[in-house]
Parts: sequence; structure tokens; C-alpha cells
Amino acid sequence: SAFSGNDDLKALIRTIPDFPKPGIQFRDITSLLLDGAGFSVCVDRLTALAAPLRPDLIAAVEARGFIFGAAIAKSLGVGVLPIRKPGKLPGARVGVDYALEYGTDRLEMHAHDLQPATRVLIVDDLIATGGTVMATVELIRNHGGVVAGAVFAVDLPDLGGAARLRDAGVETLSLMAFE
Ligand code: PRP
Ligand code: ADE
Repeated sequence: SAFSGNDDLKALIRTIPDFPKPGIQFRDITSLLLDGAGFSVCVDRLTALAAPLRPDLIAAVEARGFIFGAAIAKSLGVGVLPIRKPGKLPGARVGVDYALEYGTDRLEMHAHDLQPATRVLIVDDLIATGGTVMATVELIRNHGGVVAGAVFAVDLPDLGGAARLRDAGVETLSLMAFE
């Protein structure tokens, strides 16, 4: 394979300065997604991180988390629990408001999807402040699930999200870090 380590994957992530706001260094995964071999290796490595956490279900966070979460779920043969932006889910839903590196938002899930003690692994493309995933942890824990861990392609450790998650007792793993 042309990919010998995670640095090779890291080279496929494009950085766009000042998006969506001045001062934000946007780590853009679309350049990785365009590379078939790179995306495949990335999903295989994320699956290898995910498997020992023994998830029953993958919680995939809209929108970029859907891309990686669904691919990992298929590799593991488990289902997908979509964690969605407001007003998208048709069934009875529960929600939580959260802060983002560049704004605020709200996430929702279907209220009755988790059998007691279901092990749910959270997947997203990237962790920054951790607001998105902490909101997802709250949804899962308040509605019958057990958080099996959280897996990301990209961590921005300076923003503290991974440390925040670990403080909340969530096993947190990622492939690449950008300082
Ligand atoms: C991005 C990214 C993560 C989140 C990380 O999503 O995909 O979900 O921000 O930031 P945090 O750790 O500070 O919460 P965004 O809300 O921009 O939405 P998108 O996936 O729809 O592009
Ligand atoms: N989500 C939150 N912060 C981000 C960043 N710097 N780049 C890409 N996605 C993000």
C-alpha cells in the first residue's frame, strides 16, 4: 500500500485558513474523501480502533460523521444511530443544545432506539472543543445507552475536546492530530 503510516493520511487533509470565520484553521476532510485508497485505508484503521471497544451500534454525527460512521458500521456489521441537526428526525425525539468552535447548535436523536445497556460507539470526522460529542454522550447516557467510546479521524488537541471526553469517562481514540 502507498500508505505506510498515519502521516500519509494526514497529508490528504487540506487546511483552509479563515473558514468559516476569521482565525479558524479549517481541517478539510473532503480532500481525503476524494482519494479512494486513502479513504479506504482511513476507514480500515478507524475500524481497527473501534473493534476492541465492542460496539453494538455506531452513533454517527451529522453530517461529516455520517460518512465515516456508516463505513465503520458496515465493516463491523453493526447498525447506525443517526445523531441529527434539529427538525430532521421524523419520530419521537430528544435533543440537547451545545457550543461549537465556531458557533452553537443543537443535536437530536430518536428517543426510543436504545435497548438498555446497548454499547454505542460515537463516530465523527473530527473533535475540536468536544461540544458536539459531549452533547451526543449526554443523549446516549440519558436514553438508555452505554457509551463504548468515541473514534475520530482527526483530533485538534489544543482545543481540549479529547481531554474533556476522557474526563467524562469516554475512551477516546483518533488517527491524526493537528496542533
Ligand atoms: C464539525 C465536525 C464535528 C464538530 C467538531 O461539525 O464535523 O462534528 O464540528 O467540533 P467540536 O468538537 O468543537 O464540537 P459541524 O457542526 O461544522 O457540522 P457538519 O458536520 O454538518 O459540517
Ligand atoms: N469543526 C470544528 N472545528 C473545526 C476545524 N478547525 N476544522 C474542521 N472542522 C471543525
